[in-house]
Amino acid sequence: MMPGKDKMLITGGKPLMGEISVSGGKNTAVAVIPATLLTDEPSTIENLPDIDDVQALIEILQYLGAKTEYVPGHHLKVYPQGVNGHQVPFEFTKRLRASYYLLGALLGRGGHAEVAYPGGCDIGSRPIDQHLKGFSALGAAIEERGGIVYAKAGMLQGADIFFDMVTVGATINVMLAAARATGNTIIYNAAKEPHIVDLANFLNSMGARIKGAGTDVIRISGRQELHGTTYTVIPDQIETGTLMIAAAATRGDVTIRGCIPTHMESLTAKLLEMGVRVTENDDSIRVRPQYEQRAVNVKTQVYPGFPTDLQQPMTALLCGANGTSTVCETIFEQRFKHLDELRRMGAHIKLVDRTVLVEGVHELYGAPVVVTDLRAGAALIVAGLMAKGLTEIYETSYIDRGYERIEAKLRSLGADIRREKL
Ligand code: EPZ
Repeated sequence: MMPGKDKMLITGGKPLMGEISVSGGKNTAVAVIPATLLTDEPSTIENLPDIDDVQALIEILQYLGAKTEYVPGHHLKVYPQGVNGHQVPFEFTKRLRASYYLLGALLGRGGHAEVAYPGGCDIGSRPIDQHLKGFSALGAAIEERGGIVYAKAGMLQGADIFFDMVTVGATINVMLAAARATGNTIIYNAAKEPHIVDLANFLNSMGARIKGAGTDVIRISGRQELHGTTYTVIPDQIETGTLMIAAAATRGDVTIRGCIPTHMESLTAKLLEMGVRVTENDDSIRVRPQYEQRAVNVKTQVYPGFPTDLQQPMTALLCGANGTSTVCETIFEQRFKHLDELRRMGAHIKLVDRTVLVEGVHELYGAPVVVTDLRAGAALIVAGLMAKGLTEIYETSYIDRGYERIEAKLRSLGADIRREKL
């Protein structure tokens, strides 16, 4: 990720109109790509988003000894046979949070992993104690030294694991390690996000035996051998939501194609509560304006609650609602760095503990703003599309980690958005 390489320029006030197809899911892609290491046979993954996090993981697999064939926007083929490494240094792990999935994948592959602590968005302390608790329960000896997690297990043994809190990352990491453990593993208090189900489906297509994904109890019957597979990952729930919010924010009329409407229920319900017209079809969602947009109260929750990843773009939308809204962030304690940037654009926002009070204003106005993390970038794009005049968005590389060609998509809907080299 090259900080500061360019800036995004948006002249707001234009309603988004038309149809757009959503890309494959970032948070499913970053779980499924490491899972290819759980066999020596080649696997092909389709519908991957062409984003920096995918590129970073491909480079990690190559560093470990895998051969890869990547056709961006089409497929990734992984040949893991040559993988004999088990170390992933900080120069790789600092690029993305999901690098820690290499712990579970390498433990599952050969019982040995040495992975530096991950990087990723600065939205809170983000400890990994539950991941390590899960690996220990499976029989791995864990040591943390010099910013590196050393995990070693002669043979991973299935176990019952009860997470202290619902955690997407730890649920995924334990699934990766337990898929090839001896015996049965039960994960209690498991995360239920769509990408958990997608990973379970991917692993089962490799011959794993995983049941209950999508509920809070996941049962894994370990398999010594898994085989290669060809798999298409699900569409991105958070990109779908970001596009829905952008459509509502510009009072536009947008149909988002290739999405899964049932993944969007919590956002759809909130937009309908605001007075936005949302209609669902089998694999598309249409967003149109109705009357004024009413203020609402939002509280982020684990799936199927309102996703924390949509908290920031939703806050931007609520800056233009009629009345005062509240946005309570229950998952990450510091997911508020976008508020100062929104204030530069004229937003009337106050933070009380972990609740944002958003007093709707008649208009935001364009300003130079800085992206602090991936979804803060989404919030600033939404605000820029709403604002009168020109918004200049700096540190756009955060955005490229999780959104595939976002400005091309928005431009195809009529937005006045472009990039300029710094
Ligand atoms: C994943 O992060 C996503 N990242 C995040 O998306 C998403 O916001 C989050 O899940 C919640 O849905 C990826 O999938 C790569 P958690 P993760 O473990 O796994 C605490 C984005 O914008 N916790 O569910 O890190 C943790 O601090 C990114 O796409 C522990 O205390 O989230 C947090 O408060 C941002 N100990 C809460 O649990 C642990 O061992 C939920 O974290 C693990 C987590």
